[in-house]
Amino acid sequence: MPKPLPAPTLKPNQTKKPAAESTSDGILLGDKVWWNPTKLPNGHIAIIGASGSGKTQTLKAIAYELTRFIPSVRCIVIDFHGDQELPGEVCYPLNMESPYGINPLVIDLDTKGGGPSLQAIAVATILKKALVMGVNQEGLIIDILTTCYKQRGIIQDDPTTWRREPPTFADVREEIDSRIKSGCKESSKLTLKLAAMFEYGIFTRPQPSLDAQIIRFDLSALGKVPGLGAIAAEALIKQVMDAHRILGEIEGKIPRSYIFIDECKEAKDSKTLNLVFADGRKYGLGAAVGSQKRKDMSDDVIMNSSTKIILAVDQTEVKRIAKDFRFAEGLVGQLQPLEALVRMGSNGEKCKIKPFYERI
Ligand SMILES: Nc1ncnc2c1ncn2[C@@H]1O[C@H](COP(=O)(O)OP(=O)(O)OP(=O)(O)O)[C@@H](O)[C@H]1O
Ligand SMILES: [Mg+2]
Repeated sequence: MPKPLPAPTLKPNQTKKPAAESTSDGILLGDKVWWNPTKLPNGHIAIIGASGSGKTQTLKAIAYELTRFIPSVRCIVIDFHGDQELPGEVCYPLNMESPYGINPLVIDLDTKGGGPSLQAIAVATILKKALVMGVNQEGLIIDILTTCYKQRGIIQDDPTTWRREPPTFADVREEIDSRIKSGCKESSKLTLKLAAMFEYGIFTRPQPSLDAQIIRFDLSALGKVPGLGAIAAEALIKQVMDAHRILGEIEGKIPRSYIFIDECKEAKDSKTLNLVFADGRKYGLGAAVGSQKRKDMSDDVIMNSSTKIILAVDQTEVKRIAKDFRFAEGLVGQLQPLEALVRMGSNGEKCKIKPFYERI
């Protein structure tokens, strides 16, 4: 169960810090407000703010400073709008012409909770939600995916087979085609649902390695087709979370990786993003997400983020955000662009965010 939020307090900014943007004490957000994920109950961040309030600038500033503050940390940016470019990044644009893809069929190697069967169920759940399907089609997908794994010699009962090259959606397409030829009507309907997924090809191409320090997946081209961005984001988040679980719990408080998602609306229903916020800390996986509206951010994300940043929000949002982020309505309602109320653990502070464009 998520812990209740601490009581509201607003501390004056009294601490004196040197003028650097990243010291051993943390990262300067703006004015005299410093952020240090290793000194908080968890390193997760939730940012809320209307258009033009400074979400993108704040998230980019944090990602940029984080890699300087913790040189070993890896940042994975899931970029729905295509405006999250960072210095030194490796960018993988995902679109019809891109040579890169994401393979949702990559298996979780955890022998206690992974394997092809659970992956098939997880992928079917993602597709069902993102493409609005019924239970019959969900069941059919599970069957088709399990067949595709078997064709590659990957079997639930034998974990030694789980490391074999997983199938992609090219295999899924072939399997569906062969079922259609055998007269399966449900498969014909399914192929219509999956048409856009096949068309874009991003789920049939090889997936790039996640080894670089700053990796950005540019999903902005997927926005035209409902659901595609959500499927890609969920597949990525799941792979990263699974990989961190396999690595085991961290000893200290230094995170291994961070996932950044601006405009997290598309990932609102992401089961795995909620899991990252609930459980990622143990495995050294942090996340920072931004949204224009409170309703586009899940309750789990809000409740499990030790750092909450409110930027200027629409007047219709003030009441709910003031309540959920534990700040007085009067303070929330007066914010100007790049002005922020920052809650870190039980402390609340106000500052003018130093935007990314002033840091480079
Ligand atoms: N390179 C720049 N130079 C000067 N001002 C900038 C620059 N980039 C952004 N801004 C300003 O900084 C403020 C915050 O912009 P930002 O893009 O972070 O907003 P946002 O909350 O992400 O908005 P949206 O929801 O529309 O994406 C805006 O007032 C914008 O005009
Ligand atoms: Mg933005």
